[in-house]
Amino acid sequence: MKFGTKAIHAGIKPDPGTGAIMTPIFQTSTYVQKSPGDHKGFEYSRTQNPTRQVLEKNLAALENGNHGLCFASGMAAIDCIIKLLQPGDEVISTNDLYGGSYRIFTRIFSKYGIRFHFVNMEDTAAVEALINENTKLIWAETPTNPMMNIIDIRALGKISKRHGILLGVDNTFATPFLQNPLDDGADLVMHSVTKYLAGHSDVVMGAIVVKDEKLAAELAFIQNSCGAVPGPQDCFLVLRGIKTLHLRMERHSQNGKTIAAYLKNHPKVEKVYWPGFEDHPNHAVARRQMRDFGGMISFTLTGNSLEDARKVLETFRIFVLAESLGGVESLCGHPASMTHASIPREEREKVGLSDSLIRLSVGIEDADDLKKDISRALEAI
Ligand SMILES: Cc1ncc(COP(=O)(O)O)c(C=O)c1O
Repeated sequence: MKFGTKAIHAGIKPDPGTGAIMTPIFQTSTYVQKSPGDHKGFEYSRTQNPTRQVLEKNLAALENGNHGLCFASGMAAIDCIIKLLQPGDEVISTNDLYGGSYRIFTRIFSKYGIRFHFVNMEDTAAVEALINENTKLIWAETPTNPMMNIIDIRALGKISKRHGILLGVDNTFATPFLQNPLDDGADLVMHSVTKYLAGHSDVVMGAIVVKDEKLAAELAFIQNSCGAVPGPQDCFLVLRGIKTLHLRMERHSQNGKTIAAYLKNHPKVEKVYWPGFEDHPNHAVARRQMRDFGGMISFTLTGNSLEDARKVLETFRIFVLAESLGGVESLCGHPASMTHASIPREEREKVGLSDSLIRLSVGIEDADDLKKDISRALEAI
């Protein structure tokens, strides 16, 4: 099945009891048993729920995996992955990543004896140089948030296989429509479902997809033991959102291309970070591992002033100033003070995350209106 057909049909069957073609919201915490242990496969909704199970199967199909697991948030999904590890284990992570991921690594899991190394993963040799007998996981985000760097998943997959360690990829920015890390050698793919998968800024959820059955069982054990699962109503909303994922991503990518080109030619813009540009340092890798380049764009202003960035963000009318990304509506943000405020300034500056950096999540509105909105906002400085 091709992507659009999978998005609408994978894992989804009419309800056998009623014939309802939309997956029912099984708003129940528990399930009747005929005699102890004799039930229809569902015992308690922390462990499994029919609405969640349909979504988990659908996500597994979209990522070309065999097992999907859904969580109460993207952070809960990352939490579950790191709980595969033991004290003394080491993780090599990209140095340009979502601030919340950096925070859970450095402020939560480092307290439990897990060691994290942060490295520029565009240099895959630098990743391999950090591997020792304690290394258990390589954690990559690509495109990176917010600098839009591209990391070569296939090259990391080869390194992780050679050393017998796990490779996890946060695929939130790309979505399974644009990129399938499991096909390029990743063992785990993770999503903040909150973003493009849900797509309408109305749900917080996370997911993991894997191919390996043993790894899936370990993750399911942690998911059930720790209990950070989503409710069935949210699973229904995400199933509904995913039915248009392919159409939305085509439009996000098309608008992304238009807006990136517009910004690049604007005299008040210093630099635009978008992997679709031929002069992006890893454009060739992006072309190989992504089907298109999406709607996430970062840019800096000439003069690099925080005041100017603030003024532009306050002047936008269609681009809404808000945390998050991936909804149908365009959003703008200021990573240094918002999504990435938990990363120390020296670390931020090392990756080029300056005070004037503005991040856009380009929505699926009319591109002409978006260009006009940007033009107005830039005229304010
Ligand atoms: C790339 C990335 N990973 C993980 C997360 C965390 O997901 P959630 O907010 O659903 O917990 C986010 C949230 O912004 C994100 O952008």
